[in-house]
Amino acid sequence: MKERVLSGMRPTGALHLGHYHGALKNWVRLQSQMDCYFFVADWHALTTHYESREVIEKNVYEMVIDWLATGLDPEQCTLFLQSRIPEHAELFTLLAMGTPLGWLERVPTYKDQQEKLKDKDLTTYGFLGYPLLQAADILIYKAKYVPVGEDQASHVELTREAARRFNHLYGREIDAEAKVQASLAKLPKDNVKRLEKSRKAYQETGDAKAMEGALGYLATAPELLVQDRERLEGYFKGTGKIVLPEPQILLTEASKLPGLDGAKMSKSYNNAIAIREDRASIEHKVKRMPTDPARIKRTDAGDPDKCPVWQFHRVYSSESQRQWVSQGCKSAGIGCLECKQPIIDAILQEQQPMLERAEPYVTNPKIVRDIVDAGTEKARITARETMRDVREAMGLNY
Ligand code: TRP
Ligand code: SF4
Repeated sequence: MKERVLSGMRPTGALHLGHYHGALKNWVRLQSQMDCYFFVADWHALTTHYESREVIEKNVYEMVIDWLATGLDPEQCTLFLQSRIPEHAELFTLLAMGTPLGWLERVPTYKDQQEKLKDKDLTTYGFLGYPLLQAADILIYKAKYVPVGEDQASHVELTREAARRFNHLYGREIDAEAKVQASLAKLPKDNVKRLEKSRKAYQETGDAKAMEGALGYLATAPELLVQDRERLEGYFKGTGKIVLPEPQILLTEASKLPGLDGAKMSKSYNNAIAIREDRASIEHKVKRMPTDPARIKRTDAGDPDKCPVWQFHRVYSSESQRQWVSQGCKSAGIGCLECKQPIIDAILQEQQPMLERAEPYVTNPKIVRDIVDAGTEKARITARETMRDVREAMGLNY
């Protein structure tokens, strides 16, 4: 059984090379190693774009085409749409009951984004709940790993806290004490006495050896059924049952590819190259990239460290090409346009297979919908199973 990985992206615009080098390349690598679930976080997009939902509508399937273009393969990973799986909302609601407001108010992205997106009113209930909805996305698939960037670390941390709290509150069965006694009654009396001694030793003095011995015995006692064993393990450890396992962040390195101006690549900064940008536009944009401001005339020497084009060479060029740039720049031996040409070529070359992969989906969008339908159906089966456990744990199965 491969370990499960889950991640999502908000469909708020065409994906660009920053997304590719920062996240998607990693997703493509992971899909062959783990049981990967990737989804379109359209509800999350609505938390900031509730006044312009057409942006989301336009980008949901476009984003999936970008994913497929970069090499995500629906045969290897599960691709789906958040809003088609209402169980995410159900889990969000149930988690919300026991989540203190302060936990959400203290997530750093809450204030940061409100500061950054001043033109939007983000003092909404939905936006405050953003990380908890994300927790529901993750926990509902019992994902082990969540590949995201540093900016999402606090959300994964909140997810872990929400899971811990849930397990603490609801991981104990109703009538737990009576059930524990019933399970214990299946064992020989002398062994129960010894077990109780070990439990005290562990819970009162942290005696790990005693605990180990007890668990070892429970694991092999032939009188016990699986549920007896789980129940007694929880009883001895003092933890109860784990209904929602805590996920781990799989920190993706920040993209080494900045925007055309050297700042972080972002559509809103107008410094991005889209994954499926047309050729002429790529050429135009790279040619217009700012360079070391000291190179006013062709004969002025420059310093690659002060030039965003250099950052592109670090991603796209070979060692010998970088030598050529570095020497040529510092000695004014090459011109900036000359220096940019290999970048244009490299981006176009990187893009070519992506365009080829995207082509059938662009000409026949129905295939994309079918892929998302199939992935959503598959994901929903898991989501339903988890919700059955969750409802049972909370005593909602009346
Ligand atoms: N908040 C994430 C982002 O902006 C998107 C997201 C929503 C997500 N739900 C998730 C990522 C669950 C990982 C897991 O990038
Ligand atoms: Fe930048 Fe290259 Fe021009 Fe140097 S030669 S300033 S690295 S574009």
